[in-house]
Amino acid sequence: MANRFAVILAAGLGTRMKSKHYKVLHPVCGKPMVEHIVDNIAKLNVEQVVTVVGHGANQVKALLKEKSEFVIQEEQLGTAHAVMQAKEVLQGKEGTTLVICGDTPLITIETLEALFEQHDKLKAKATVLTAFAENPTGYGRVIRDSSGNVDKIVEHKDASDEEKKVKEINTGMYCFDNQVLFEAISEVSNENAQGEYYLTDIIEILKSKQQIVTAFQTIDFDETMGINDRVALSKAEGIMRKRINEKHMMNGVTIVDPDNTYIDTSVKIGMDTIVYPGTVIKGNTVIGENCEIGPNSELVEVTVASETSIRQSVVHESTVGSHVHIGPFAHIRPQSNIHDEVKIGNFVELKKVDFGKGSKASHLSYIGDAEVGSNVNLGCGSITVNYDGKNKALTKIEDNVFVGCNSNLIAPVTIGKGAYVAAGSTITDDVPGEALSIARARQVNKEGYVKKLNSKN
Ligand code: UD1
Ligand code: CA
Repeated sequence: MANRFAVILAAGLGTRMKSKHYKVLHPVCGKPMVEHIVDNIAKLNVEQVVTVVGHGANQVKALLKEKSEFVIQEEQLGTAHAVMQAKEVLQGKEGTTLVICGDTPLITIETLEALFEQHDKLKAKATVLTAFAENPTGYGRVIRDSSGNVDKIVEHKDASDEEKKVKEINTGMYCFDNQVLFEAISEVSNENAQGEYYLTDIIEILKSKQQIVTAFQTIDFDETMGINDRVALSKAEGIMRKRINEKHMMNGVTIVDPDNTYIDTSVKIGMDTIVYPGTVIKGNTVIGENCEIGPNSELVEVTVASETSIRQSVVHESTVGSHVHIGPFAHIRPQSNIHDEVKIGNFVELKKVDFGKGSKASHLSYIGDAEVGSNVNLGCGSITVNYDGKNKALTKIEDNVFVGCNSNLIAPVTIGKGAYVAAGSTITDDVPGEALSIARARQVNKEGYVKKLNSKN
């Protein structure tokens, strides 16, 4: 196998996206499009990956850090000019160079491998990956001669009416003999409709030098889609989402309504887990086996063990144990660690809480900046008063504590092991273990009060 190199074109601003962000940084199913490409290339035995970035594209560099080398294209003068920037890094090296645009995140490893293989097998100097497009508007057209060999690629804006009818398009992915590529690239001119140096012109140049130029047509146009605007972005998202959901279903996850379930590419889900409609699962979320997630739930960067249900709830940057029930309508905010067999019921908010095994907050509570032991029962309306307007303070609730309904625990405060807090208490001082603390005004009943009141009128 020849040495493999890759050049990723990612310097364009992506004007058609109408965005303040670089086009290739727009995420598709939670991962920036250019990162999809770099991650796929990493699985193709490529020795050197060079990403062409625009002037000031520090975010692209920061994203791809260890995954790529970078060259800068100060001015975006076209795709050939972009490739030219990689010359100092790659010229003279023996092998095959994959050139790929940073805006085609749906391309699969299998198709790229097949492209490399055909290129090697036919001993070609250039092989262009083509596809058949129902609507080829905007794409470069692949023009073949009478015997079916590739003649040239004509950009949409430069194409004649006859050429515009061609539905075989250039996907913007190619294999080149590395040395031949960097020799020929300086011959590309910018005499065309857009005044740009088109990489596509290199096909005609190589043909004129009697070099072997071939095309490899993939059957799946979707894979090769270039994302130039938000309409294409949403289409790509839909295609990628379908792929992700099908992968999980093939692995034994039930997704009740895949068209209405949004799972990022990095998410892992165990067997026999059921995901109900309207669920969004993002980031590096890991969900165990036999869980029930949704409907209408959002999990972001969450680890969930097995046998847990999370219904109509939002959980962010937290860990959830096994046999836990969350929701409906709970909000688990970052840095919460929920142990096994816990119940977090409706309208309960947790923030930065270690919530011990078997403990419960079943209704209408705010528990923030707290350490809750095991087998604790927080009654309806329990609140940790963690903020005095300036600082946050910690509430400690030890094992087996029972907090009665509608109690305020004013932090910093500790409720000792096994203690009881009477309903309606506002606790300002520590409660010793095993004690009953009542912190509310004693009840007074005024007998016959209404009668007296009425007799005055
Ligand atoms: C390009 C191809 C077209 C093909 C299509 C496939 C050319 C001239 N045209 O058109 O034949 O059908 O892709 O999607 O190659 N870029 C740079 N520097 C530049 C210009 C572009 O890095 O100076 C990068 C962009 O960031 C982008 C990629 O190259 O990732 C493609 O550029 P784009 O402007 O999207 O090309 P298309 O018009 O789509
Ligand atoms: Ca494009």
